[in-house]
This record gives sequence, C-alpha cells and structure tokens, in this order.
Amino acid sequence: MTAPTFKEFVEKHPSIKFFFTGGKGGVGKTISAAAIGHYFATQGKKTLVASLNPVHSLTSLYGQDIWGRGVQKIEGLENLWAVEVDIKKKIEVYREQLTERITSFLKWADIPVDPASFIEIAATNPAFEESAQFDTMTDIMLEKEENYDIIIFDCAAVANAIRLLGLSKIYDLWLGRMIESRKEALSLRVKLSFRKDKIKEEVEKDPMMADLLRQHEKMQKAKAILNDAEKTAFIFVTIPLALPIAVVERFIKMVRAFDIPVGGVFVNRIIPRAVAEADATEYMKNSFKQQDRYMDMIHNQLGDLVSAYIPLYSTEVLGVDGIAKVCEDMQKFKPD
Ligand SMILES: Nc1ncnc2c1ncn2[C@@H]1O[C@H](COP(=O)(O)OP(=O)(O)O)[C@@H](O)[C@H]1O
Ligand SMILES: [Mg+2]
Repeated sequence: MTAPTFKEFVEKHPSIKFFFTGGKGGVGKTISAAAIGHYFATQGKKTLVASLNPVHSLTSLYGQDIWGRGVQKIEGLENLWAVEVDIKKKIEVYREQLTERITSFLKWADIPVDPASFIEIAATNPAFEESAQFDTMTDIMLEKEENYDIIIFDCAAVANAIRLLGLSKIYDLWLGRMIESRKEALSLRVKLSFRKDKIKEEVEKDPMMADLLRQHEKMQKAKAILNDAEKTAFIFVTIPLALPIAVVERFIKMVRAFDIPVGGVFVNRIIPRAVAEADATEYMKNSFKQQDRYMDMIHNQLGDLVSAYIPLYSTEVLGVDGIAKVCEDMQKFKPD
C-alpha cells in the first residue's frame, strides 16, 4: 500500500487547520513545521507558525527577531507569520496565577493552613511546566483560530500534550466537581443571607467560579479541536536511525490511544544515492548501507504513514530560501 503524499493528505482534508510536528530532538521538526508553513503561505493561505520551545529556533531559522515579541510577519514571503513564546516567562505568570488560586481556594474552603507549602508542591511539580505549556498552546489555538487559515505548532511538547490529554479526563472530572461544589456553596450563601440581592450579585461576580468555568470551557474546546481529524493533524518527523524511529512509533501509539489524528510521517536527512556514490569514503559507504537498513525498517513499520522524504543538505537549513527548498523537496524528493 502506498501512503498518501503530504499534498494528497491536504487535498483530502479541505478543512485542515492545525498541524503539530513531533519527534525526537534534532530530527527536523522545526524545518518541517516551517516547510508546511511555506506550503500553505505560497498557496495564499494566511499562515501562522508557532513555537513554544525554550530555544529560539524560529528566530534563528528565519534570521528574524521573533522571540518573545508576539506575532511577527515573516519578511520575504506573503501570508506568513510566526510567534515564538517566551515560555519561561509564561511559566512565571502561571506560577503567580496558581498562587492566587490556591490561596483563594484555601480561604474560601476555610482551611486554616499556610498556603505556601501547597504552592511550593504544586509549582515545583514537573507536570506544572507541562500544563503551563499546554495551556499556552490552547490559548494560541483558540485565540488565533479565527485569524488564520493554517496554524502550525512546532511543538517540542507533543508528548506532554498527549499526556495532558490523557489527564484531561481526570482534570475534567475535577473541574466539574469543583464547579458543582462552588455552585452549591454559593447558593447556600444566598439562602442563608438576609441581604439576598447583595449576595446574589456577589455570587454572579464570583471570580473563582468564573475562573473554573473558563478553564473548563477552554479544555473542552481544545479537546474538540485535537480530536477532530478534519481540522487537526500530527506530523511526525524521523531520520533513518533506530532511536528516532522508535520515538515516532511510540508517539503514534500514544496519539492514537487518545484519538488524535496522525497526518503522516516525514523522513528527513536522507542521503541521496548519487551523493553516496560520488563520495567513495568508507564513512559514506557505511552510512549509506546503514541508511538502507533503517529505510527498510521505516517502510516496514511506518510505511503506510510516510508522506514526505527530505534529503540531507550540504549545509543547515536557513532563511525563507532554505525553507522553500525543503518545501519543494518534501513534495517531490524520493529516495532511490
Ligand atoms: N535535511 C537536512 N539537511 C541538513 N541540515 C538539516 C536537515 N534537517 C535539519 N537540518 C539542520 O539540523 C538542525 C536541527 O533541525 P531542526 O529542524 O531544528 O530539528 P528539531 O526541531 O527537530 O530539533 C538545524 O540546524 C537544521 O538546519
Ligand atoms: Mg525544533
């Protein structure tokens, strides 16, 4: 069975809007995200490439100052914008919000403890940074959905996103419970109060309730998008080596378990036969032989998902021109 190419996949999914790239570090997720962006921008689609990675990868790839500056227009190509979130700063903001939430919860529930230790536990938990990242991604998804035709997340946090989706069922239950008990408590206050109007007004303005409802609604919306195979596609990137292939296999199993649609696998850094044959060194001969073996492995294990091949270039990929080349190759390069 031959897998659909990237172009065929896109043509089969006319409402596609969100792409996510995933894979092991250094395999070419960022250049793939940029190449997908290039593909749509040159077709006249308003396109946004978004990164939440703690490194300035879009800034160095496009050679433009994007980091922490909000959405920036990419020079040298129509219809293309990029945003690179300063995630460390975001995490700090989330820490502050969390502190407020815990403090007001303990006060509201009338629990006479010092909130500091709760905050310490919650905010130093590694899952906390993941949630902050997931939340930031959700914000971009929901806030920019209307303004762009295509949004691509160069997403180092795919594994986190997937894990959090798994957790989201529990989170949902928890939020649902919190909302219910908050409602009960508030209505009790209304019943008990002599100044019903005043209390009712207060209840309607209750910041904690509003916060819970907002979080709940956001989570539901994000889930609906992430599970919509017509709107969303996860693209996994690998190179012909054992570990990156294993990582992609694992990711694919994970996303499928959560009903997140897989949009294909890109195989990057392929040494073209002509290049290998022109270089008679032992090193090249061995690399090429090894590549053959791993290409077989890819075709056996991921064959019906491979939608693009990208050759190994003699230099790193830089600028709109470099990305244009990747975009062209991802549509027509085939290993021989
Ligand atoms: N096919 C390729 N040929 C040459 N250099 C590449 C190729 N693919 C990626 N690179 C370079 O490798 C580095 C890592 O690529 P990148 O897309 O940033 O990976 P990731 O986002 O997965 O960490 C970058 O410097 C990029 O320019
Ligand atoms: Mg990257």
